[in-house]
Amino acid sequence: MTSVDREDGPVKATGAAVYAADHHPDGLAHGYLLTSTIARGAILGMDTALAEKAPGVIAVYTPFNPLELHPYAKEENAELTSPLQSTGVRYYGQAIGLVVAETFEQARDAAALVDTHYSAERPRGSFADGLSSAAPPPSGTPVVDVLAPGVSSIDEALAAGDVTVTATYTTPAETHVAMEPHATVAFWAADRLTVYTATQGVRLVVDRLSETLAIDPARIRVINPYVGGGFGNKWGMWAHTPLTAAAARALDRPVKTVLPREQVFTVAGHRPPTAQTISLGAAADGTLLAVKNDGVSGKSASNDFHEQVANLSLALYGSANLHVSRKVVTLDVPVTTIMRAPGESNGSFALESALDELAGELGMDPLDLRRKNDTPIHPVTGLPWSSKHLEECYTLGAERFGWAERNPRPGTVTDGDWLVGLGMATATYGAGRGQASIKVRLCDDGRAVVSGTAADLGTGQSTVFAVLAAGSLGIPVGRVVPELGDSATPPAANAGGSGSTSTNGPAVRLAAGAAKDAIVKLAAEHEKSPFHGREVAFEGGELRAAGRAMPFGELLTLLDVPAVEATATSPRNPVRDHAFRSFGAHFCEVRVNRWTGEPRVTRWLCVVDAGTIVNAKAARSQIVGGVVMGIGQALLEDLRIEPETGRFGNATMADYLVPVSADIPPIDVEFLNYPDTLLSDLGARGIGELGIVGAAAAVANAVHNATGKRIRDLPITLDKLL
Ligand code: MOS
Repeated sequence: MTSVDREDGPVKATGAAVYAADHHPDGLAHGYLLTSTIARGAILGMDTALAEKAPGVIAVYTPFNPLELHPYAKEENAELTSPLQSTGVRYYGQAIGLVVAETFEQARDAAALVDTHYSAERPRGSFADGLSSAAPPPSGTPVVDVLAPGVSSIDEALAAGDVTVTATYTTPAETHVAMEPHATVAFWAADRLTVYTATQGVRLVVDRLSETLAIDPARIRVINPYVGGGFGNKWGMWAHTPLTAAAARALDRPVKTVLPREQVFTVAGHRPPTAQTISLGAAADGTLLAVKNDGVSGKSASNDFHEQVANLSLALYGSANLHVSRKVVTLDVPVTTIMRAPGESNGSFALESALDELAGELGMDPLDLRRKNDTPIHPVTGLPWSSKHLEECYTLGAERFGWAERNPRPGTVTDGDWLVGLGMATATYGAGRGQASIKVRLCDDGRAVVSGTAADLGTGQSTVFAVLAAGSLGIPVGRVVPELGDSATPPAANAGGSGSTSTNGPAVRLAAGAAKDAIVKLAAEHEKSPFHGREVAFEGGELRAAGRAMPFGELLTLLDVPAVEATATSPRNPVRDHAFRSFGAHFCEVRVNRWTGEPRVTRWLCVVDAGTIVNAKAARSQIVGGVVMGIGQALLEDLRIEPETGRFGNATMADYLVPVSADIPPIDVEFLNYPDTLLSDLGARGIGELGIVGAAAAVANAVHNATGKRIRDLPITLDKLL
């Protein structure tokens, strides 16, 4: 496996990398959002007189003095893409105004002078209260039943089991807290708009802005080469982006709006709370006979996104009978959105905890129970998996972790004041390959520039470009210059759904091949070329013919051609007769203090089956990051919605807890590295989300093994263990 340092490491470590908020074009003005202080109702009036007279203030935009914005047809929540177009309030912290001033501080101070009057209604703020009236989702299939011939209902199938378990598992709202807060800088020049904005995909922003500003997308350029974390929170765009672009147009000067941290919590989306009731029925030997998973998710009144938590039960284990249902509880809270492994990270907490509970009832090792129900085909479609080595993940993981030493009797292993437990869970995440175009430019200085609209959120995607292009061209990785995050380059994959490498990777290789062809043609056809009229080959970064070799940079210099370039497009995955998914196995050790209940994760191993690993060093970071976030989900993360007000009660980084280094044990990651040749000739699936799926359940299962306490409500805080 290739393992190299990140190509963007030095610029990030030295502070030379320029993020969205770091841009300050000449004449820059600063925007500051006004946000609502009720969760449901309407704005009756906004007194902006004091703010307008405040030092440095240039403009105050409100629903009574709005900027011209149009709805984005593909997104139902108008507050995001065309804010200030109505006086309605649908959540606490909604953007209801933009103050523009000469400095950030002036804009912020003036915003505090705006007096807003509301007519407020009591918000729907409690997910727990809403569960009894949960409704089918606005779109999609609410119920999926897969029943064996002759079986009339899932309950009948459950009743036929020798052993059944039923339990309800809940997860709270969570939020992404990416290191880099959202920011947008926009300026216009001759009817053309340039935008620097923190995003997981510059094309996502071009699409949305072209509709909200009602201009041709060809007149918009969005640039964002560096992103300080996304996790789903920078997918699409939020209210500050169209407001900033529209203000820059109205004022005819550049405007920058940076969200302060507390606004990131509400102006951008979050992961809604969920509840799943799972029943598993099994034969005495552990064979699953029936899986029933009724999943409920919170959903913002502003949009339709909800967590399809129960769906994982349709994809992971073989069972003759499966039932999944989907309901939503509508809440007057900020927009709900995708967050790392949407539906599956929280969904797997329930399914993988339930498997552990079933193993306990059966008196079976939980790893053996999973082995027993591993399936070579997709449980619903019956299609064979393209490349699945989950069994090997289990076996290798158990051996390396020392799983055989686990005492199956909970609460029996102690070390001083600590109760020690081991837990495991399966990791899995969907895989696919979309269409991507990439351009490779071979330059006379011997470097190769690889460009496409992809995003590197800190994932290592730009280094993936460098590794793959370098491999195809036979040049050192350091001679490749990746150019990501510019909408003026060919359309490649946005960063989401663990699909960047699987989609962009094959395109990089195709484009490198096309660039080689182009320079070979030039070498053979250019009259001044030493290879003129010959059969030319390209190998190791050199043109070769008849015993003569010349690096491509030298040839270009000789011919006085600055660069040769080629663009190639790799298509969507056309394979329909196989199912695609990544897999893995988590193993962990947890210690729980017998007096305080404090849980500490003390050891971790994750074995990963995600196809070809392009850069082992960054890939390991991706899995480690997923596990760290999973440990946060297991033990700490809990975005509190105040039921009375609909306000997030802990929307600060002091109160919304995520793991710090001291919470994280050494994490061992092992890659199987089997190419998934049915997905692409590169064989890479994706690893951005795999590491978090199953992680919280592995912790919960270890906590149970340590203490005998089964915690079915995340996060597992010490009060639940006393
Ligand atoms: Mo991610 S939740 O696929 O942006």
